[in-house]
Amino acid sequence: MTTADFRRMIVEGIPETLPAPKPYDQNLNHAPRRKDILSPEEKKLAIKNALRYFPHQFHKILAGEFARELLDTGRIYMFRFRPDYEIKARHIDDFPFKSRNAAAIMLMISNNLDMAVAQHPHELITYGGNGAVFQNWAQYRLTMKYLSEMTDEQTLVIYSGHPLGLFPSHKDAPRLVVTNGMVIPNYSSQDDWERFNALGVSQYGQMTAGSYMYIGPQGIVHGTTITILNACRKLQENNKDNGLKLFVSSGLGGMSGAQPKAAGIAGVISVIAEVNPKAINTRYTQGWIDEVISDIDKLAKRVNDARKEKRAVSIAYHGNIVELWEQFARYNIKVDIGSDQTSLHNPWAGGYYPAGISFEESNRLISSEPERFKQLVRESLKRQVKAINTHCERGTYFFDYGNAFLLEASRAGADIIDSRGNFKYPSYVEDIMGPMCFDYGFGPFRWICCSNDPADLETTDRIAAESLGRIVKDSPLEIQQQLSDNIHWIEQASKNKLVVGSQARILYADAEGRIAIAKAFNSAIERGIISAPVVIGRDHHDVSGTDSPYRETSNIRDGSKFTADMAVQNVIGDSFRGATWVSLHNGGGVGWGEVINGGFGMVLDGSKESENKLSMMLHWDVNNGIARRSWARNSGAMFTLEREMKRTPGLKVTVPFIADDRLIEESLSE
Ligand SMILES: NC(=O)c1ccc[n+]([C@@H]2O[C@H](COP(=O)([O-])OP(=O)(O)OC[C@H]3O[C@@H](n4cnc5c(N)ncnc54)[C@H](O)[C@@H]3O)[C@@H](O)[C@H]2O)c1
Repeated sequence: MTTADFRRMIVEGIPETLPAPKPYDQNLNHAPRRKDILSPEEKKLAIKNALRYFPHQFHKILAGEFARELLDTGRIYMFRFRPDYEIKARHIDDFPFKSRNAAAIMLMISNNLDMAVAQHPHELITYGGNGAVFQNWAQYRLTMKYLSEMTDEQTLVIYSGHPLGLFPSHKDAPRLVVTNGMVIPNYSSQDDWERFNALGVSQYGQMTAGSYMYIGPQGIVHGTTITILNACRKLQENNKDNGLKLFVSSGLGGMSGAQPKAAGIAGVISVIAEVNPKAINTRYTQGWIDEVISDIDKLAKRVNDARKEKRAVSIAYHGNIVELWEQFARYNIKVDIGSDQTSLHNPWAGGYYPAGISFEESNRLISSEPERFKQLVRESLKRQVKAINTHCERGTYFFDYGNAFLLEASRAGADIIDSRGNFKYPSYVEDIMGPMCFDYGFGPFRWICCSNDPADLETTDRIAAESLGRIVKDSPLEIQQQLSDNIHWIEQASKNKLVVGSQARILYADAEGRIAIAKAFNSAIERGIISAPVVIGRDHHDVSGTDSPYRETSNIRDGSKFTADMAVQNVIGDSFRGATWVSLHNGGGVGWGEVINGGFGMVLDGSKESENKLSMMLHWDVNNGIARRSWARNSGAMFTLEREMKRTPGLKVTVPFIADDRLIEESLSE
């Protein structure tokens, strides 16, 4: 197919003649059949809603076809409209456009739906089992068409995958504003999501899927490496043990699949349980797992040998995590660091496979006997927690990996609450990411080279390493460890061969680092050292982007962790400071109704305008969260904010006076 053909097909949008039906590819990783939640009347509404995208002459054929899709899969994906061209990141100028910024957005959307990147590409799911880019293929086609037509004086509006349309705006406004899953708070339960999604009126955008900022597994490898490295440091602080550590967790899926690779980079032995053989195979063929073992006796022996050999081997255990924890307790294997990355943000629809029944049987029960399946999940979680408690009594450091494990285990009635009514274990953000990274402004900054050329990515790696190298020289002691970890990461990044899909890179950096790197890129684009624009962005899982009481804001202790002002303000602030696109989501990571999160994308094109926008927007995008974390009395954030106010004219933030705890005690006892 020529580039001209590709462009023509994008511009076509919904085709004038009905494309041929598409065969169902059995070899592909498909989304599980969703719960049959709609009443007969609601099913009619779902079909009527889906037909809105098509002219009348298609309705007769499509009505029956969509009804079958709804009954077979629980959703109407409109498979027939999947385009015939390969969806993937390409050179920005290969896309048809009037606005080059819109072409950059097309590149990002395409990357999120690339077969090599997306988890369930035919169902338009990028990661996390339900992280949707669009709800159906009509939305994809229309969005790409709008983007190809829009000028720099229009803004495209997307409601949960549905392109509402192009609206007149101005050149400094965002080219795109996305919302995902925003519902009235009282209608934000799991079943509400199932219902609204089946009706085709809302979607779960996860964090970066619905904002087109997912860059494949390297994003998560970097974050997981940082988490494991810092978890080891915490252990060393506590018991001064410098020996080879063992990390046990579950999940080899979209994000969880990063665990063995990251453990290898961090230099620890890892055993990750996974029930789905396809998921194991993906990571094994990628080279992220050294060995696959399904016999627990062999596994126990292998772990003991690896310890003796002092070899940081990464092992996939093909089986259920519950059995792994139980059997390791029986074998008295000392687990140093433990976690869980089953998709418990989505516990009833394939995110968590209960112990005691096969993977296939679980998949059957999810739709045929949902109540029995729920009961099995609850029983399994109770068993899992019991076994984890045994390990922790023997010294394991266990943390929740932001997958709603503690929350769902507590809801299941597991022994996970301590005598003061709190969870027995911290979340990784509460203990590691929050106080060690977010409070200082360090978060998952990323960039994508719009030339799609690996040579440009290499240049950006070099520029980023040089930028951080300059900063570290004069940095205070408090942030030197983080800066050195990140310099080490970027220097090794290309050697680690983590690029899947677009030519992208992740690098944890603070406000100063992000601005310095982005400015240096912009200047290199202007001088032709980088051959095309660069998109900058970040994961929503960041300093300011996400309000999530059991994850990103779990180390906020002034009672405000259930508020979502920070995440909402962040998106509004980014939008008028120069972001090319912004997005605001309900749900992401820990589940619908449990988190509000947002993000941005910004195209750097080497212009003076880009330089102004990046400085203004990145400064706000990090310091909003620093200011909030400082107001919550987090010491790292108070330190960072004080430094920031000294060097930034015009920044005046309300800072807390810290009251004496004894005074408070006395005030109530009087
Ligand atoms: N990696 C991170 O830094 C990070 C950060 C935040 C949140 N999370 C959360 O971690 C979870 C996992 O994300 P993902 O993208 O990998 O999801 P995913 O659905 O792609 O993968 C989860 C995997 O767990 C497996 N699994 C489920 N139950 C199991 C069981 N009982 N025993 C063994 N394996 C089991 C599934 O087969 C699946 O492959 C999500 O809830 C996500 O939000 C991860």
